[in-house]
Amino acid sequence: MRLGKLITFEGPDGAGKTSVLEAIIPIISQHQKQDIVISREPGGVQISEKIRDIILDIHHTQMDDKTELLLYIAARRQHMVEKVFPALDKGQLVFMDRFIDSSVAYQGFGRGLDVEAINWLNQYATDNRKPDLTFFFDVPSEIGLKRISLSDDREVNRLDLEKLEMHQKVREGYQELAQKESQRIKKIDATKPFEQVIQDVLDILLPYLESNKI
Ligand code: TYD
Repeated sequence: MRLGKLITFEGPDGAGKTSVLEAIIPIISQHQKQDIVISREPGGVQISEKIRDIILDIHHTQMDDKTELLLYIAARRQHMVEKVFPALDKGQLVFMDRFIDSSVAYQGFGRGLDVEAINWLNQYATDNRKPDLTFFFDVPSEIGLKRISLSDDREVNRLDLEKLEMHQKVREGYQELAQKESQRIKKIDATKPFEQVIQDVLDILLPYLESNKI
């Protein structure tokens, strides 16, 4: 029985979820007794970070869509086994920058791969461990891509270079997921000012943590 809680941050590129995650952790830490683990996908452990480098390399333009999906899934599995499952077993609170919904949104809606197959692969890689709570940072693709192009400290990766149309499909994928799984996935309007976005997350997260004390 895995006691901890798994909370994921999702959204299209340039939605600002990584910055929000960094900003809320010190605040959450003041309210929480148990250890907090922060990680990201693809990556989080050495083998998965190496897979990440292969996937996101801007020179790998010939990568097949199914190869891309399977590499994300492989990175996910290794990360779960080495880092996420042990943390949850210890009752820790795990925050993750991207997880299973990214595969559905990007490889399913964005690339057009079969969503049922992706759902099955996600279940296989995670032993069917779904997030307990997910924040979806929603932003129009034009704004997201503009933010990326203006940001100095974010390296441009292979997926950022995809056409606007693919990014729009990714966003639609997230919107559909958020509608279908409205209990788990909370939509946050990421066009609002940064401080307001943080507040909107905390307004959901703090009561959630309070009522789900591990
Ligand atoms: P990253 O630089 O971490 O982007 P971001 O800061 O937007 O999270 O790169 C991760 C990229 O990988 C991002 O474009 C989304 C993509 N991705 C998928 O396509 N499928 C997946 O399953 C995951 C986890 C990520």
